[in-house]
Amino acid sequence: MTTLKPKLLIARKIYEEVLTKLEKHFDVDYNSADEVFSKTELISRLKGKAAAMTTGTERIDEDVLKECAQLKICANIAVGYNNFDVSSMTAHRVQGTNTPDVLTETTADFGFALMMATARRLTESEHFLRKGLWDKWSLDMFTSADVHSSTLGILGMGRIGQAIAKRGAHGFGMNVIYHNRSKLDPSLEEACRARYVSKEELLKQSDHLVLVLPYTPQVHHTIGENELKMMKPTATLTNIARGGIVDDSALIKALKAGVIAAAGLDVFENEPKFNNEFLGLSNVVLTPHIASASTKTRTAMAHLAADNLIAYFENGQVLNPINKV
Ligand code: GLV
Repeated sequence: MTTLKPKLLIARKIYEEVLTKLEKHFDVDYNSADEVFSKTELISRLKGKAAAMTTGTERIDEDVLKECAQLKICANIAVGYNNFDVSSMTAHRVQGTNTPDVLTETTADFGFALMMATARRLTESEHFLRKGLWDKWSLDMFTSADVHSSTLGILGMGRIGQAIAKRGAHGFGMNVIYHNRSKLDPSLEEACRARYVSKEELLKQSDHLVLVLPYTPQVHHTIGENELKMMKPTATLTNIARGGIVDDSALIKALKAGVIAAAGLDVFENEPKFNNEFLGLSNVVLTPHIASASTKTRTAMAHLAADNLIAYFENGQVLNPINKV
């Protein structure tokens, strides 16, 4: 007797090995073209499916859920899940999952690298060289802020924030301060050599401020004109969290006026159609939302999302629930 496999929509292109694994368990509808679906396309492809594998580009909200009554689980290939309307999913009894842990160290490596590139004017000086403008060496050419021994500020001290703190404190002798919804246990603070401060102190004292907090509507524009004004004019701001946490127009104004020295941005409001005024600024380092993008980690993320889907249909238990249904 053949049992019918549950129907699964894989909404974006994934690794072949993960596709092969999923095909053993599911009747797969695969977006191999990797086009980003419009809402209408997403609804029409998701209708009648019991499961979805999504990324940050697919918004699962009330409009989608009310049309896709068979849907039971959405596994996001990301640790962040602000593309999910979690309360609507819970109301429709749709299980959501994410991919924490497997990306922590890779994302922290990138956050630290972006902060360093921003502080040391790495891309600005490279662009100068590529343009053929380097005709002589001079003593004050591309002088910049030190990273070692400076004050590293971290806003959002979850797993990734802690991993960045350790790199700064243990590897670069940085004085690490942080602000978070809750203070860490003393043992964790000691492991990170990090000191809890108010948000105001964090803004005032940081030489290099890194944002690693999850996006929720409550943290929309957590860094805006007023916050930027509280920072040192020599400070840098690095955002590897989510677009919308920073008010990008206010940041552009601040970067133009020298309110802060520079910014490193891996995420943007309205990405990938970000505010293109950033492109005209020399004091920014810009990357296309790739902080977790080592091959090993992106493969591990896709496998973990697949394992969540398989576990749900095998025993009703998922590995990384984000809601209780
Ligand atoms: C990437 O931004 C993620 O949330 O994993």
